Amino acid sequence: MAIPLIIDTDPGVDDAFAIALAARSPEVKLVGLTTVFGNVGLELTTRNALRLLAYLGRAEVPVVEGFEGPAGAADVHGEDGLGGQAHTLPDNEKGVYGDDPVRFFADNLGPRTVVAAIGPLTNIAAVLDAGIEIPRLIVMGGGLGLGNTTERAEFNFWADPEAAQTVIRRGKPLIVPLNLTHRCIADAEFLSRIDPVLSNLTGTYRAYLADRSENQGIYVHDAVAVAEAIVPGTLKTRTHLLDVDDDGALVEGNHQVEVAEDTDWPALRAFMEQRLSG
Ligand code: RIB
Ligand code: CA
Repeated sequence: MAIPLIIDTDPGVDDAFAIALAARSPEVKLVGLTTVFGNVGLELTTRNALRLLAYLGRAEVPVVEGFEGPAGAADVHGEDGLGGQAHTLPDNEKGVYGDDPVRFFADNLGPRTVVAAIGPLTNIAAVLDAGIEIPRLIVMGGGLGLGNTTERAEFNFWADPEAAQTVIRRGKPLIVPLNLTHRCIADAEFLSRIDPVLSNLTGTYRAYLADRSENQGIYVHDAVAVAEAIVPGTLKTRTHLLDVDDDGALVEGNHQVEVAEDTDWPALRAFMEQRLSG
């Protein structure tokens, strides 16, 4: 029986790859997307989520608009959040389903539901603060001894450190950190083989990385986290005692957290390539 999956997201180019991967995987039943500010502002992340689902033929999946906050990664994902190519995706006649993520989780979480949180954790912290337990929570975020927004903080945790603290301390998450996702690069060959509409979203992101590294592709941070929801066991994990500091850095602490440390990237890459080829 398909695994019920809710994705909390700030699309975002790697979010788009993650949403497409889930939409094209029969192992999961997409229960809904809850949107949050992050790569760009909430209005754009919500519009992008709607358009991606329409493009993927999944306009029936509800999109619930969550919390706003300070956008922070247009230099990576483009002003529209999708590499300046959001207009290449169709409108979604269904529109937003609601604007209360806590209510949506309360009404739709079941004992087998997996939640993949791939943006700032503001919505997820609100759900936990409402006393709602999330059966299985997979979070793309953090970095052990490294960051991508500051030297020590990864973007999703940096964007709302207090929410990240709540999730680490009370959410019992599986964390998928930069230490692993920086090894998961969708290079030019990969991008040439998948759905061209998805590849077409990556121009700004590729240019951003090419200016700063030898990298000729994009990091598929969020798709790595969602792959674990689709095929449990994709990521090899170990338990750490961690916390998040007030600047959003993942640090040693007193809270037991499962951390994804390794994966068979060639196999995962082939899996993603096959599913994202449309
Ligand atoms: O640091 C990477 C994370 O921040 C990804 O989720 C990316 O989409 C951005 O939200
Ligand atoms: Ca994201």
